Amino acid sequence: MAPQRPHRKPGNVVHSQIAPRLLAWYDAHHRELPWRVAPRDLANGARPDPYRVWLSEVMLQQTTVEAVKAYFNTFVDKWPTVDALAAAQREDVMKAWAGLGYYSRARNLKACAERIAAAGGKFPDTEEGLRTLPGIGPYTAAAIAAIAFDRQAAVVDGNVERVVSRLFAVTTPLPQAKTEIRALVERLVPASRPGDFAQAMMDLGATVCTPKRPRCMLCPLREDCTALRAGDPEFYPVRLARKERPARRGAAFVAVREDGAILLRKRPTSGLLGGMTEVPTTDWTARQDGESTPAAAPFLADWVACGSITHIFTHFALELAVFRAGYDGPAPPGHFWSGPAEISGEALPTVIKKAIEAALSGTTKRAGKR
Ligand code: ADE
Repeated sequence: MAPQRPHRKPGNVVHSQIAPRLLAWYDAHHRELPWRVAPRDLANGARPDPYRVWLSEVMLQQTTVEAVKAYFNTFVDKWPTVDALAAAQREDVMKAWAGLGYYSRARNLKACAERIAAAGGKFPDTEEGLRTLPGIGPYTAAAIAAIAFDRQAAVVDGNVERVVSRLFAVTTPLPQAKTEIRALVERLVPASRPGDFAQAMMDLGATVCTPKRPRCMLCPLREDCTALRAGDPEFYPVRLARKERPARRGAAFVAVREDGAILLRKRPTSGLLGGMTEVPTTDWTARQDGESTPAAAPFLADWVACGSITHIFTHFALELAVFRAGYDGPAPPGHFWSGPAEISGEALPTVIKKAIEAALSGTTKRAGKR
């Protein structure tokens, strides 16, 4: 059930006024971002580098602008061009991506760089052309086309959905409202500066038209905004209640050698966290009676319980019981030791980093041998 619709006056948005107001605001208040060419530089003839735009957009689908900055800088320092990224070792790319999540995106990133390099190193300059590339969906294609190539593309992410659903007081709940919102954005995108318009929408959503306590007094669209006129911008975007995530559970085994090295193994290349590195774990099962004791450990050792960690994936919530043991034997088949100097460079997903941290710092309870 959608929430109750508030009383509202009919919309009063003059479409042709939106882009000029937003662009004037962006000229004065845009964020300085490492992948962005500021409006003053564009006006002086600078052009965005499609490689940097693509890389940043793929990363920004994973996490916040603040968190992306460090990853972006690492990537462009190591691989300044799409050809350099195409020539990189896949393992090194996975390591640089570790912590950003959705590791299939890192594999697609590399595959996409290889395709572009093989075709002469140039990105296609249309949405249709961009969408033929690995890992480039409708959002990323529109964002690159608009920002890097000045195409009049409708770029719609979560920030834009929020701004537009408030501007027009869209009462259809998300995700059903996506088509309606896209059609509204298409009417607003200007022929001139569509890339700045897209980035202005996103900046407005991130800094002014925020999910909670929007700063409407500072908004360049306050006179246009239907939701503000009705007095309840926070009501939008309307969403159907989310289904609860199913729970899965399992155990993680952190074996520590005397010199501090940790026993690791590689996950299969396909599937969840494909190609990433992990400490040995049990299967992650939805069963309540799934094995999460030292009986499931990959080898006999003096396993000590170190509490549990939780990690939220898109489709389930995982609880892992964490065990630690000192172990000085040779690495079992398919496993390898990673020393204290190497461990931070391993392609460890966040969930596994949490397990290692719990093992090395956690409260401990003796759990018995297996
Ligand atoms: N979020 C996603 N892409 C963005 C961009 N180009 N600018 C600001 N925020 C963004």
